[in-house]
Amino acid sequence: MFSIRTPPTAAASRLAARYLTTISSAVRTTTTTTTHRHQSSTSLSSFTTPTFSSSSPYNTNLTSTFSLRQTKRTMSSAVAKRLAGKTIVITGASSGIGRSTAFEFARTAPNHGLKLILTARRVDALEQIAKEIREEVGEGVQVLPVKLDVSQPEEVRGFVGGLPEEWKDINVLVNNAGLVKGVAQAPSIAEQDINVMFATNVTGLINMTQAILPIFKARGTEGGSGDIINIGSIAGREPYAGGSIYCATKAAVRSFTDALRKELIATRIRVMEIDPGQVETEFSVVRFYGDKSKADAVYAGVDPLTPDDIAEIVVFVATRRENVVVADTLVFPSHQAGAGVMHRKST
Ligand SMILES: NC(=O)c1ccc[n+]([C@@H]2O[C@H](COP(=O)([O-])OP(=O)(O)OC[C@H]3O[C@@H](n4cnc5c(N)ncnc54)[C@H](OP(=O)(O)O)[C@@H]3O)[C@@H](O)[C@H]2O)c1
Repeated sequence: MFSIRTPPTAAASRLAARYLTTISSAVRTTTTTTTHRHQSSTSLSSFTTPTFSSSSPYNTNLTSTFSLRQTKRTMSSAVAKRLAGKTIVITGASSGIGRSTAFEFARTAPNHGLKLILTARRVDALEQIAKEIREEVGEGVQVLPVKLDVSQPEEVRGFVGGLPEEWKDINVLVNNAGLVKGVAQAPSIAEQDINVMFATNVTGLINMTQAILPIFKARGTEGGSGDIINIGSIAGREPYAGGSIYCATKAAVRSFTDALRKELIATRIRVMEIDPGQVETEFSVVRFYGDKSKADAVYAGVDPLTPDDIAEIVVFVATRRENVVVADTLVFPSHQAGAGVMHRKST
């Protein structure tokens, strides 16, 4: 009776998935521009199932409508459940992508015993974020702000030992802390800038990984489990003039990440990298040593990604089924196609 005069199953499911994405985006966009983005992900479960318009070629297919409804419920609850009881460390959580990632995790699993350890040098900013997360999602997510300079090996060495006992069983490490300094070219690159970029982006990320890995390796019976999500950059794939050191640091992140994934092949530890293109954050302000007008000029006439865009992808990769490793992701805004390939509208 429900004979299917519809496209093949895979195509139908892609259509359903696309339809759901559209609903999800609509919810997010509306909530972003009106009030908090609170429950943007989780609100899917309470969202009324849409009906296709009578002009839709699929509107007679009750089976499709039913499975659409089923898919929607499963997707939203499975994602939150996969985060249940997890402890997540985010480095560089005081601004930009790290900050957005903290909110995105909290919004995705607001009532699942999630614990977020937010680290950065600016602990005041972390405390403010913790307060805002509490105000937005309530007490269902615990947040622990921790002052940590990843460029200081002794601070990283003491990090796990300094955590309260109930926060030590870490499941996810988001290695996000990073920075760029200047646009100088060899032979005029300040030694201090070279050192701070390598110490933060490379040694800091490696030291954090080494500090947390023993916890992952001790978990379970399959050589360990846990997620390492490294934030690389298009700069690690496509070096550009005026960014040689930053590009070199992100290429190092890429090599370390790929090698680590191979070293951990016999475990359930997932090693994943997300490489953003241009994202508007404090990144360029830091690059120009606090000169906001120079930073603003970088984004003039272009339409960059937002830190929330990358945060959604971080949470997406962390919430796949345990056998799914989203190993490598390159993310551009629509007007970017390479490190220096941007469509700039005339301003
Ligand atoms: N924005 C982009 O266009 C872009 C593109 C590709 C990749 N990325 C990468 O994305 C990551 C996040 O950058 P963002 O764009 O979000 O920039 P952002 O807004 O400047 O955030 C950088 C974060 O890193 C933290 N940080 C810097 N040095 C640190 C240190 N020594 N120890 C601990 N934390 C430190 C900062 O916190 P404190 O200052 O409080 O320590 C801040 O929270 C970086 O790895 C960056 O390379 C950015």
